[in-house]
Amino acid sequence: MSLLIQHGLVVSSQHSTPSDLFIRDGIIADIGPSLSQRADTVIDASGKYVIPGAIDVHTHLDAPVGGTTSSDDFESGTRAAAFGGTTCIIDFATQSRGQRLTDVLHAWKTKAHSSTIDYGLHMIVVDLPENRLQDLDALVEEGVTSFKVFTAYPGVLMIDDATIFRILRRAASIGALVCVHAENGTVIDLLVREALAAGNTSPVYHALTRPPVTEAEAVHRVIALARLAKAPLYVVHVSSADALLEIENARRLGQPVYAETCPQYLFCSLEDLNRDGFEGAKYVLTPPLRDSYHQEALWEGLRTNALQVVSTDHCPFFYETQKIAGRDDFTKIPNGGPGIENRPQLLYHFGVNENRISLHRWVDLISTTPAKLFGLYPKKGELRVGSDADVVIWDPEQQHTISASTHHMRVDYSLYEGMKVKGNAETVIARGDVIVDRGSWLGRAGRGRFVRRARFSLQ
Ligand code: URP
Ligand code: ZN
Ligand code: ZN
Repeated sequence: MSLLIQHGLVVSSQHSTPSDLFIRDGIIADIGPSLSQRADTVIDASGKYVIPGAIDVHTHLDAPVGGTTSSDDFESGTRAAAFGGTTCIIDFATQSRGQRLTDVLHAWKTKAHSSTIDYGLHMIVVDLPENRLQDLDALVEEGVTSFKVFTAYPGVLMIDDATIFRILRRAASIGALVCVHAENGTVIDLLVREALAAGNTSPVYHALTRPPVTEAEAVHRVIALARLAKAPLYVVHVSSADALLEIENARRLGQPVYAETCPQYLFCSLEDLNRDGFEGAKYVLTPPLRDSYHQEALWEGLRTNALQVVSTDHCPFFYETQKIAGRDDFTKIPNGGPGIENRPQLLYHFGVNENRISLHRWVDLISTTPAKLFGLYPKKGELRVGSDADVVIWDPEQQHTISASTHHMRVDYSLYEGMKVKGNAETVIARGDVIVDRGSWLGRAGRGRFVRRARFSLQ
């Protein structure tokens, strides 16, 4: 199978070059001006950008959360991702207490079999006694080179500081990257109990009981543990200016601390949690949405490279049948929201079109740096000879109104309902297969492969 993409502008994290791209057997075989190879399929990309497929390193598909399961499985979620221009995800396998990590990995790979695009897995570690530390080594051997730990959700996902420190130290010695969900879980639990006792049960109390300082404190603490362990650290879903400041301080001192934010923190705010009736439940995700002034700080972080990645934390639940569980008690609202389909278009429109970031920075944030940090580069995240042919033909002029009535995610609402964006994925190619073309689905369940990721190396 061969494919020739002609007359496009190839855009990387550094350059834009008018080039053709020749793909053979799923791999980029040649790049250059006016290629003349004969191909089974020829695509005219005149007036379009040709970019490396977007990579979403933070998704929760078919995931058990708060007594229910996220509503997109690996088939529906990755199909929606592809419509938006994402050709690879890294999802989270989640350990239950007492479970061996290799068993968890096996179970998640089975779930992920229906994936339509390539996928990697991080491992959420909730229980790791001293004598099981070597189980982490086995994961790295299997290509699972990042682990996630929680300082939030006591009794469910939270682990103690000493265990986090042990994991950081081991990870550093075996070439893995520790990702942290950083909020002060026990203080939040106290604030939650007090809110409920005072009769404060509506969705906005989800945010009011998790103020920015609870995020910043935990970020600061885990950065300190990483320094002690001489380990790199990746902070997931940074939501506040306060937490960002901790990351900036550490990076200024030369510590290898990396961080992501997510579209919901750039485009939604506390006001959404205060929507009429129970609508605010749609916006209950963790860390919570903040006052809108935090958004400018996060954009600044994306510009200055204090934040290096935008992921989605896609974790959808139906409003009518799942979020509703918390009608009388915000703590029973499953935490999470949808977004796997919208990240490239939101970042492009509000970032590139509105001059907040450059075209190259956009490619960097959604594809190249995620690939580098998580051991996928240069197979993915870059269009170069020998790389996987994960390619998006991006139409910078295509207008689109985001809506639950037209999106492909399996969920009955959109966080971005009614937002108008210009710029969208027109054709999406995953390892040489055209899987989306002008709004038509040409992919299939099960075509995605598990990606064994390389060990972490300093960026
Ligand atoms: O609300 C969220 N983010 N749900 C998913 C789990 C997590 O903490 O990332
Ligand atoms: Zn998290
Ligand atoms: Zn998450």
